[in-house]
Amino acid sequence: MRTLASRRQLGYRIAPLRHGRPGPHTMISPIRTVAPGESAGSLARELEAGAVLLFPDLPFPFSDFEKRFTERPFADGKAKNVNIRGEAAELRGAAGTPEEQEALRQILIRYRAFARDLIGTYLPDYADRVSLAGTSYRPFDVDRRKLSWRRDDTRLHVDAFPSNPIGEKRILRVFRNINPSGEPRRWRVGEDFGSMAEKFLPRVPRYSALSAHVLAALRITKARRSEYDHLMLHLHDALKQDETYQASAPQADVAFRPGATWVTFSDLVMHGAMGGRYMLEQTAYLPVAAQADPALSPQRILAAKLGRPLHA
Ligand code: SIN
Ligand code: FE
Repeated sequence: MRTLASRRQLGYRIAPLRHGRPGPHTMISPIRTVAPGESAGSLARELEAGAVLLFPDLPFPFSDFEKRFTERPFADGKAKNVNIRGEAAELRGAAGTPEEQEALRQILIRYRAFARDLIGTYLPDYADRVSLAGTSYRPFDVDRRKLSWRRDDTRLHVDAFPSNPIGEKRILRVFRNINPSGEPRRWRVGEDFGSMAEKFLPRVPRYSALSAHVLAALRITKARRSEYDHLMLHLHDALKQDETYQASAPQADVAFRPGATWVTFSDLVMHGAMGGRYMLEQTAYLPVAAQADPALSPQRILAAKLGRPLHA
């Protein structure tokens, strides 16, 4: 157990407020329902400010043949999810006959196009700047996975990828509940990123550019880990490990019904997945510079809290 004094030495210090004004009050991420036919308007700004955009019933129909994918999990059970990666959209982690696996692959390809269209319609300023990454099919109940605390996504967290430094990109995710029997995907959402960061930054060890170089040279990371990546990984772990915070931090329960699609910056919005099975998910990356307001990014919020730019 570290003492407070050593923590203070090791951890980050929050810079005093420049203008002597108190920061904004803690806010729980709002769920912003987008009405059918609503125009893009300020949706990107709301998203950037920490909202979850909820589209209650955009069409994404399944054929009779495809309905089997929501009746039992077509997964080899080795990984958490089934996904397609890359230009070739190679399917990984699936189970079933070759015909079934090809049909599942086609659903994921179609979902990727659906997510791209959604961004084009509701977040048009991102359309040319976003790059689509993995697409996944998540057939298992979140409750029943027995995972280490670090991989336990029922704990409130922001997303951070240990081997894949993210640098100046944002993680934008498009989720859809495809459960056939009325079961919602249940989430918790937490407080705003800035309020969380103020509590947890003092517990994060200082960044070392040297060890970032070593990790990259040893190919433990795919590219050199920036200070931002370092901060996000440590925040992710510190959050998940803090039982008291998990139980008593500001938070709200959310139930996403079947047929609902929701979009959020999962590197900004504190979330935990509490239950539900059969979901589709698309990950996209957006450069911070492509935001309507880059100051709302976790990159710039952290820099503001520390009172200096982060090491690149
Ligand atoms: C997560 O990103 O934490 C998982 C979300 C989900 O599985 O619903
Ligand atoms: Fe997550």
